[in-house]
Amino acid sequence: MTGSRLLGTGSALPANRVTNADLAARVETSDEWIIERTGIRQRYIAGEGETTSTLAIAAARAALEDAGVEASSIGLIVLATATPDNTFPATATKVQAALGCNGGVAFDVAAVCSGFLYALATADSLLRTGMARRALVIGAETFSRILDWEDRTTCVLFGDGAGAVVLEAPDTDAAGNPLAAGIISTRLHADGAHHDLLYVDGGPSSTQTTGHVRMKGREVFRHAVVNLSSVLEEVLEDANVSASQIDWVVPHQANARILDATAKKLGIAPDKVVVTVQDHANTSAASVPLALDTARRDGRIKAGDLVMLEAMGGGFTWGASLIRM
Ligand code: UT7
Repeated sequence: MTGSRLLGTGSALPANRVTNADLAARVETSDEWIIERTGIRQRYIAGEGETTSTLAIAAARAALEDAGVEASSIGLIVLATATPDNTFPATATKVQAALGCNGGVAFDVAAVCSGFLYALATADSLLRTGMARRALVIGAETFSRILDWEDRTTCVLFGDGAGAVVLEAPDTDAAGNPLAAGIISTRLHADGAHHDLLYVDGGPSSTQTTGHVRMKGREVFRHAVVNLSSVLEEVLEDANVSASQIDWVVPHQANARILDATAKKLGIAPDKVVVTVQDHANTSAASVPLALDTARRDGRIKAGDLVMLEAMGGGFTWGASLIRM
């Protein structure tokens, strides 16, 4: 039986668009370098009054509207973020209060850029147990607030945003047959040995500061292609599906070159890969649901399509999920 079904998607971006040229005025970089090495042309940066929760709430409302369901029907909110509004309580509880669906389950998941995949798998598992009938799964970040704006090797790469999906517990049709749509297979992994290749150099328990993103980009790049290719193969094998049967791949948007290399390694045609990194840059946990919502709203991803979500990030953590829309 397939897992939980995706009823709708939504996303939100801050108002302020920042181009590569804008950044070149602040640090020693250039539009050419950023485009050639990453594919990024612009990103959105949160301004005063915009936080992870305000973006998450806007994305959640858009997803509820798209799904055509009331906020009061949501019994579970799982929010992936590495940039919560506060150390506690969970940003998910702020979303819950804003939507007015108090009393259910709401918590955050921390798996950085893979956070949405971790949140999706967690929500799917809880829905299957009957903990709730409907869930909001959200990836939301204000990474701009943990960037070292003097460090050109990281500050040009990231942006802010949020994406959300409404999930419903698995069901059967009137004849009792399982519905075809839903999450088919998900695989998650982590390898804590690589902590120092991508991390934040602060936190409540270690430094009592928020800290800044530190990354050894070249090494992360190498691990990303290897880890993503292997987890995609695992999910395809679980589902007994070949790469050529996939309609769309919706990857974490860190670097256009990682997307190209991973697709090539698996024999997936480049025109089946949803690429939004040029517009949003790397929005960490928000990147997969933002790209998914973009491709649904522009008509690329349709009901019945076989869609692969995948991501890799700090920890390292990585994962993939195959969904029949
Ligand atoms: O989301 C979590 C996962 N994260 C990722 O997947 C990121 C993975 N890594 C990457 O995307 C790439 O490694 C980067 C985009 C971060 C860097 O690209 P690269 O081709 O690996 O460049 P590099 O780090 O090897 O740096 C090449 C050169 C260096 O100069 P030298 O040492 O060759 O003289 C850097 O100092 O580019 C220089 N450089 C820059 N130049 C202009 C680094 N950042 C910049 C910059 N502008 N912003």
